[in-house]
Amino acid sequence: MASSPYYLTTPIYYVNDRPHIGHAYTTLACDVLARFHRLDGRDVHFLTGTDEHGQKVEKSAMAADKNPQTFTDEVSQNFRKLAEDMNYSNDDFIRTTEERHRRAAQAIWKAIQDNGHIYLDSYAGWYSVRDEAFYAESELTKNEDGQKIAPTGAEVEWVEEPSYFFDLSKWQEPLLEFYEQNPDFIGPDSRRNEVVSFVKGGLKDLSISRTSFKWGIPVPDDTDHIMYVWLDALTNYLTAVGYPDTENPDYSKFWPADLHMVGKDIVRFHAVYWPAFLMAAGLPTPKRVYAHGWLLNKGEKMSKSLGNVVLPEDLVSQYGLDPVRYYLLREVPFGNDGYISHETMVARINSDLANDIGNLAQRSLSMVAKNCDGAVPTPGPFSEADESLLNAARDVLDSARDEFNKQAFHRGLEAIWNVVGDANRYVDAQAPWELRKTDPERMATVLYVLAETIRHLGILIQPIMPDAAAQMLDQLAIDEDARTFAHLGPNHALTAGSPLPKPAPVFPRYVDEDAAS
Ligand code: ME8
Ligand code: MG
Repeated sequence: MASSPYYLTTPIYYVNDRPHIGHAYTTLACDVLARFHRLDGRDVHFLTGTDEHGQKVEKSAMAADKNPQTFTDEVSQNFRKLAEDMNYSNDDFIRTTEERHRRAAQAIWKAIQDNGHIYLDSYAGWYSVRDEAFYAESELTKNEDGQKIAPTGAEVEWVEEPSYFFDLSKWQEPLLEFYEQNPDFIGPDSRRNEVVSFVKGGLKDLSISRTSFKWGIPVPDDTDHIMYVWLDALTNYLTAVGYPDTENPDYSKFWPADLHMVGKDIVRFHAVYWPAFLMAAGLPTPKRVYAHGWLLNKGEKMSKSLGNVVLPEDLVSQYGLDPVRYYLLREVPFGNDGYISHETMVARINSDLANDIGNLAQRSLSMVAKNCDGAVPTPGPFSEADESLLNAARDVLDSARDEFNKQAFHRGLEAIWNVVGDANRYVDAQAPWELRKTDPERMATVLYVLAETIRHLGILIQPIMPDAAAQMLDQLAIDEDARTFAHLGPNHALTAGSPLPKPAPVFPRYVDEDAAS
């Protein structure tokens, strides 16, 4: 059976910034899904990259006293490095300054234009460079200094220039019908409702070219204009699967995308403009857009402009990579805004990781090492308690898959940790250290059940903590090619008597420097 394709994307990041943990968060969520679906036997294509055109990037380049090409060449490297630092398993890294992308962006423009949805006029209105977005007068408020600001808090400036327009107003009804027919297109529901009411409120035609600066992709056949950076940027999702060559195997396999993961600030671009552009170009629309919330620091959205950013490399060097990956997706219910803090990080590391799963693996495997000649113990008949734990470990994939498919990572992890809790209660109730003297055969069975449960947990946590999971599975001497979800269940159970390496703790406690003295 051919495995089913799964195409997922992160937003491409503006290269004016150094990546902070808010950026890392979006891509981390995608990485976990990508790894999950690969282990589940799907043919995954996971895309990330950088958004390099437009006024915002041009201004940052000028501020750094560099030409935009040199500037973007340098800054986009920070995002490649982020992918390494965070152990992302992306299949591609796209830059919108690449030739393959210029070709795709110009092709979608042509397709929309040939279908009669683009006209030349002039734009007179408000624009925010920080958001790279046009705003209507009615959306604006004033800040303390009396300056007009967008709903995002960004400053706006008056723009008046010749511009091509996209006939977005004509897409109100088709979009509403599309949302109606595809109830899962936008998640979570709160975002969906927001988008539907925005579209019901009426859509104005959208300015899609600029003439007052040069850093962008030229409009085909009218090089006085460059394409609006959002039309350029959104098209990256098509570029990466080979568009405009719609006959190529990647395009046929992966388009339409299964999931565009985004932050809630850019849901309008992905859930309104993007499907409208695609419909206008006669191309299939993506299956789902999921908008997550903010990571907050000191009460506000973490962002460079607010000066409250946390850098991924700092968190990773303080707490370790896998604990950070786990914490970010377990602590904040995905979809909501949430705080990150040292206290909650330490609490998760010491309870969920060190005490719960770490201690389970460490005490079980060291008992095996000491009492079973360092080999997988030979089980006798299973009791009801044994069967019940094994079944819990075997069945949890279904709940985890359901939750991950809804992007409810925190609930998927909670389901897996319920099995960890079951296993720890099982150890306490079975007390294998006592069975050692009274009933060594029963002890062997209990330790076997524990080892088999740990095998399941090790396989299941690979998407979230790839390195720690690999260490757990190494300690059970599981072959590298026997670690997919197809290896869960009794058919691939541990073989009694196979030798095991000496166990070592995988999840150390975090000890505060100050508290340690
Ligand atoms: O918007 N918490 O790029 P970007 C959570 N280039 N997520 C955060 C965050 C925070 N504190 N700060 C930023 C762009 N993000 C466009 C995308 S896609 C065709 C073009 C998230 O670098 C933000 O919500 O400003 C977004 O999903 C991503 O980082 C990239 O933001
Ligand atoms: Mg942003």
